[in-house]
Amino acid sequence: MRVFKKYKDTNKVTLHNGDCIKLLRKLPDASVDLVITSPPYCIGKAYEDPHNDIETFKKQHTDIFDELYRVVKPGGSICWQVGYHISDRCVIPLDCVIYDIFTSLSEKREYPFVLRNRIIWTFGHGLNSTKRFSGRHETIMWFTKGEQTMFNLDDVRIPQKYPGKRSYKGPNKGKLSGNPLGKNPSDVWEIPNVKAQHIEKTEHPCQFPVAIPQRLIKALTEPGALVLDPFMGSGSTGVAALIEGRRFAGAELVKSYYDISAGRLKDASEGKAKVREDKPVIEPNQNAAVAKLPEEFRLAREAHNEET
Ligand SMILES: C[S@@+](CC[C@H](N)C(=O)[O-])C[C@H]1O[C@@H](n2cnc3c(N)ncnc32)[C@H](O)[C@@H]1O
Repeated sequence: MRVFKKYKDTNKVTLHNGDCIKLLRKLPDASVDLVITSPPYCIGKAYEDPHNDIETFKKQHTDIFDELYRVVKPGGSICWQVGYHISDRCVIPLDCVIYDIFTSLSEKREYPFVLRNRIIWTFGHGLNSTKRFSGRHETIMWFTKGEQTMFNLDDVRIPQKYPGKRSYKGPNKGKLSGNPLGKNPSDVWEIPNVKAQHIEKTEHPCQFPVAIPQRLIKALTEPGALVLDPFMGSGSTGVAALIEGRRFAGAELVKSYYDISAGRLKDASEGKAKVREDKPVIEPNQNAAVAKLPEEFRLAREAHNEET
């Protein structure tokens, strides 16, 4: 796989080792179908200036907004994954900060950003607090630039716990009650975070699991689309983009993380990416009759997979 430094529409992968604003400035107007990113939270991580605070966070986002708005296609999506900024005893939800900046800066433009979902990403492990409840979730803010053009729900359905459930009353009494392809994953996603034992773990201290961008990419774009991650870290968004047959452009300031990204993207292009399968964390009781996949559902899923 060839990694291009200079963007062209025909590139499969364009990577910039430097400030994302430089990559954004090189992208053509309305060229990006989907942005997925997790920016620095300004909480003193290894890759952050320790003096950065919540005002730095606001300024970084305000500074890139014009370019971000310009490069996204009308109808395209912007997914911002954030947690909390914590200083002293105070917890600031960064999704609220993002919401204010993105909606206020776009409201007078031709295509104002519209918030479509605020997804709760919940996970089982993290720091144990002693003076407040331990944090076990972050959020993903999904905006569209103007009107939404795409939502491929059937491509991101997840297995029902009990697919064999049947309606017990009404005109459909006795019939299977669920969708053969699975259920809507809802706006609460339980996906393990990338800790030491996770198959995707690299040297980067704050990776998100590939399953997050993978779901978003499948739901919000078609094959061949351009996916952008301006703060790509270890390249998880890029790995998901290549697995799903999309193009990718990403920027990373720190050379060692950039190198990790380049390596992971190469592996992904050769079908060798190490990725945890997006499967439910808790297995249902397999002995229950309703836990067995009905034959009708199995056939419908096979037919859907053949189509896509
Ligand atoms: C929260 S991490 C992203 C992690 C990523 N989602 C992953 O799965 O690996 C944010 C990254 O943004 C990088 N970064 C910070 N400021 C940047 C800038 N102005 N341009 C490009 N990258 C930047 C940091 O070095 C860090 O690796």
